[in-house]
Amino acid sequence: MSQQAHRSADTTAGTQEPETPNLDFAGTTPYEDYVKADVLTHLQHTLSDDPGEMVFLVTTQVMELWFTVIVHEWETAARALREDRPGVAVDALKRSVRELEALNASWTPLGQLTPAQFNSYRSALGEGSGFQSAMYRRLEFLLGEKSASMLVPHRGAPRVHAELEKALHEPSLYDEVLRFLARRGHAVPDAVLTRDVTRRYEPSEDVEAVWTEIYTGDQNAELTRLGEALTDVAELVWRWRNDHLVATRRAMGAKAGTGGSAGVAWLEKRAQKNVFPELWTARSHV
Ligand code: HEM
Repeated sequence: MSQQAHRSADTTAGTQEPETPNLDFAGTTPYEDYVKADVLTHLQHTLSDDPGEMVFLVTTQVMELWFTVIVHEWETAARALREDRPGVAVDALKRSVRELEALNASWTPLGQLTPAQFNSYRSALGEGSGFQSAMYRRLEFLLGEKSASMLVPHRGAPRVHAELEKALHEPSLYDEVLRFLARRGHAVPDAVLTRDVTRRYEPSEDVEAVWTEIYTGDQNAELTRLGEALTDVAELVWRWRNDHLVATRRAMGAKAGTGGSAGVAWLEKRAQKNVFPELWTARSHV
């Protein structure tokens, strides 16, 4: 009798316990081969003896992993738009919306640090700062927030630097959206379509007019759905920035950041930036 037939006979008769999982593997488990859990769970090298540092480090690592997934989704969406496959793009954007929600939920363990708790390990961080996160920078580049100077901190890490340089020179997700809208007959100006994609995207009144026209039309149309998926992304990125800002304000008040910035004052300025700006301003005209 095959193992499967054997199992179903047992289940029908109800006489024996269900089969237990396999215990016997020649090498490492297939789970380990796939997940690399042994590697992943031995990367928590804290720098102080403070018991509260572990969750700070792991939250940061968890956020890096979410950044990686979200960058993957947005690169998928950008490529799909380039290939005129809006359905694939919207699917990827919608996945990223759920992932951004999970990313933002991971602020919870750090959201209420007191200055004394944070001080217990802060000095051990030296000049280390999330500002130096290359994956976060790729995420910002995909949103159109490009800046060549953001490559400078990564000169000492060739692979990271090469990936960032490539991302700097590629059209952002928003550039691909606007090129796609132009191919669909919308009046996106040439200056926007041929802009230097290594520079920060600047809002355009003509692009605002394009989104106004799209949103004024059929509310269930494909382009409105694309606009709404992008608006969800923009809102959740804004929420991440603001949760970060509030957590920082609680943990360190107005002190300077470990990365050398003015701290909260600098983050406040960053949080004011609108993601996909015309998707917000067009709403006043619909
Ligand atoms: C409560 C804990 C945290 C505090 C007090 C804090 C503080 C700061 C400060 C002051 C800055 C400005 C740059 C500087 O001078 O260092 C900054 C930037 C940044 N932090 Fe945090 N941070 C915290 C947690 C995190 C976590 C868990 C992440 C996840 C990766 C993170 C990611 C970032 C990023 C990406 C930036 C750059 C933002 C940008 O370029 O606009 N931070 N943080």
